[in-house]
Amino acid sequence: MVTPEAAATLNDIATEELAHLEMIGAMCAQLSENADIAEIKKAGFDKYYVDHGTGIYPSSAAGVPFTASYIQSKGDPITNLYEDMAAEQKARSTYEYLIEMTDDPDVLAPLRFLREREIVHFQRFGEALRRVQDYMDAKKQFIMPKCEKCRPKNR
Ligand SMILES: [Fe+2]
Repeated sequence: MVTPEAAATLNDIATEELAHLEMIGAMCAQLSENADIAEIKKAGFDKYYVDHGTGIYPSSAAGVPFTASYIQSKGDPITNLYEDMAAEQKARSTYEYLIEMTDDPDVLAPLRFLREREIVHFQRFGEALRRVQDYMDAKKQFIMPKCEKCRPKNR
């Protein structure tokens, strides 16, 4: 990343996102670990169960497995930060859809927390974007120390 502050923002958010993945995985495990076959069928969890049992397998709600193609990287810091901000908004709206689908307070609380964190991530990426744009727009001037002995004597 272009500035140390932006790199720190990316490291902080990436670390937190891995923790979010762990939270969602733990929530899914807790919701399914004691389910019997009738409950699994009633919940529409049967197709997943046939492929993965009650194990945690990262996939979309439509059953599409997580792949590296979900990770966007364009090699341009401005483009990447806009992409990061868009990803945070997509995560926020996904959490809102999940929140709409449950009344379980033990599920709602972590989903609300995760939704709030996506909003914070969006704002932090926005701050990083502004800093990176300012840095890229700034004129760069490299100043050499004066060295009188280094100059030719006829000057
Ligand atoms: Fe996020």
